[in-house]
Amino acid sequence: EKGGFDHFMLKEIYEQPKAYRDTMRGRIDESGSKVIFPELNLTEEKIRSINNIHIVACGTAYHAGLVGGTAIERLVRIPVAFDVASEYRYRSPLITPETLVIVVSQSGETADTLAALREAHANGAHVLAITNVVGSSIARDADDVIATLAGPEIAVASTKAYTSQLIAFYLFGLYLAEVRGTQTAEEISHIIAAMQSLPEQVEAMLENTDAIKAYAKHISNHNNLFFIGRGVDYAVALEGSLKLKEISYIHSEAYAAGELKHGTLALIEDGIPVIALATQEALLEKTVSNIKEVKARGAEVMALSHEEHVSSLLKSVDQAFAIPKTLPLLTPALSVVPLQLLAYYASLARGNDVDKPRNLAKSVTVE
Ligand code: M6R
Repeated sequence: EKGGFDHFMLKEIYEQPKAYRDTMRGRIDESGSKVIFPELNLTEEKIRSINNIHIVACGTAYHAGLVGGTAIERLVRIPVAFDVASEYRYRSPLITPETLVIVVSQSGETADTLAALREAHANGAHVLAITNVVGSSIARDADDVIATLAGPEIAVASTKAYTSQLIAFYLFGLYLAEVRGTQTAEEISHIIAAMQSLPEQVEAMLENTDAIKAYAKHISNHNNLFFIGRGVDYAVALEGSLKLKEISYIHSEAYAAGELKHGTLALIEDGIPVIALATQEALLEKTVSNIKEVKARGAEVMALSHEEHVSSLLKSVDQAFAIPKTLPLLTPALSVVPLQLLAYYASLARGNDVDKPRNLAKSVTVE
């Protein structure tokens, strides 16, 4: 049942190229220049009337929402707010019939996310669910469903569901951009083409994982570490950190790279590992100055970037890993993969039960 893999988590990591392809299939027209969503009830008129979007979810699904909402805001120029579902109702969010509420849930059964959906409905919003389980409570109650076609996810640590949620968000963002005319046809085809290369790029990353295995073994001897990044790299840092905590039980914090010096830099001491995501060219210089701040305090830095930056980064970091090149907005669909592997191999090195971490359940049906 684990298809030759030692754990469901590893199997599910390796199923990601298929999950990307399956989630894209039927949603891109034959010419590769348009996204189509035949399953949506959302009319073009309704899409034109939306004036704000709320994205609500828990844990890893929330992290996918951070990336997805950033993509939508950039492509469509509609303001997007993000909430963890357990907080959403309590801040009396301003929801109107012109609000589109997107709830994200692998299982479709998360109690807080379901309650957020009901709150949104009570205030007249249209609710779109991105879920991996089409028969779930959330899918049943939502006005619209975009199914992620990742197949069943058994491991408690979510991997292929997260990346399929990213794909669903990118597609939906492009669809909104088409309807509202906020991106040119050329720009849309360009992004679609880049998305279609993602599965092969993930395959290439999964072919040789020796370096990440060795690094995982190294960090498994530490009790504290940091992830830093800017922009979508920060969103991926949050996901990498959650994954690591969840299954390796190593304490880690994800920080927006520029925010460290506002207090947390005090925790950087000799030998502490810092994983710096530096995939965003436009932010590279700023991220490098943050890397230098932690290096100067004794941190041991591993950077994740593109091949072309590795040699210059190596002047300021101890180690660097390259991910394949894609558009800046799409990098999370690649950069998260080494972080998933890092969590997996660190958990393994510590002798933990990878698929069933302590204290956690696959589906959280209490508030
Ligand atoms: O089924 P859901 O996507 O609603 O679950 C949300 C979170 O409980 C889930 O993503 C959790 O954070 C994962 N175990 C993280 O790997």
